[in-house]
Amino acid sequence: MTKPNWSLVTAARESGGRMTASRMESLVDQRELQSELAALSRRGYRFSVTSRGTLVLEAWPNRLFAEEIAFGLGTDVVGGRVETHWSVASTNDLARAQAKRKREGTAIFAEEQTAGRGRFGRAWTAPKFSSLLFSTALDAGGLSFAPEALALAGAAAVAEAVAQVHNLPARIRWPNDVLVEGKKISGVLVEGIAGETKSRWLVVGIGVNVNLDAAALPEDLREAAGSISGFLGHEADRALLARAVLRRLDFWWEVLKAGGLGRLSASCRMLSSILGTFATLVSKGKTYSGRVVDIDAEVGLVLQLAGGPTRAFAPGETILVHSESY
Ligand code: BTN
Repeated sequence: MTKPNWSLVTAARESGGRMTASRMESLVDQRELQSELAALSRRGYRFSVTSRGTLVLEAWPNRLFAEEIAFGLGTDVVGGRVETHWSVASTNDLARAQAKRKREGTAIFAEEQTAGRGRFGRAWTAPKFSSLLFSTALDAGGLSFAPEALALAGAAAVAEAVAQVHNLPARIRWPNDVLVEGKKISGVLVEGIAGETKSRWLVVGIGVNVNLDAAALPEDLREAAGSISGFLGHEADRALLARAVLRRLDFWWEVLKAGGLGRLSASCRMLSSILGTFATLVSKGKTYSGRVVDIDAEVGLVLQLAGGPTRAFAPGETILVHSESY
């Protein structure tokens, strides 16, 4: 049986679903085209060919295939291997197991999590096949940044990928959320691996609400959450977004390893949903309010306290309660 020709699928997806005849000819031997398309159709990919020979991707299955996500990804570390799972407790657990085996960068996706978790022990829920739910283990041994910088890098990767693939104005709500029009569409959870001494492995887990109806979420989340499909008004391409997020996360991981906290901070300031707003936060049990004057991957969020000095708040010990424009 012919194996799926992922070059046809990824090239079509990455060029808006259409491929010229000459591009198609560069990817597949014309004598093989029909059997290639038949193999893809058995997986649920439906193509048509226009009278001018343009190949059009008409429909694709709502499944994440590891081979497709990995095909020609071109990343150095993140996504060097890709796994897709039907149902797991939490992809962060699988990535933790990889960290213990010193396997860096495998992107572990699940269609469903039965015990997905977020920051501060909160649950992360998503209907099956609706989202991107994935984690990867990274070796931060010898590097000098705090784990929270990786969370910010994850949020930047998602915001950039959502803007690039779906043309939506995605913003980072420090320290680890991604919003579109004020609604949370993604969260990032970074966990350290206990017992590590010389090396310092981190697990970064990312959840993105792609094709879901906010009404399907638990009642307390409905108001604050959104999804990409909700903003687009139609289903969004999960595989295309998965590839874009992995590429951006790989990029930011390289930047962090090269000591580029300043570069990450600059991008996060530009993408920030709260810079310049009046914010209220809780840190170590105390409430603070003021204008957000900086977002920095090294020091955290900087508030100009009402009538007082500026003060930096580290992400690990701070909960942003509220922010509003002046
Ligand atoms: C948050 O907003 O609090 C962070 C949410 C992180 C959710 C993702 S989904 C994939 C990975 N596995 C988990 O159990 N959590 C993260």
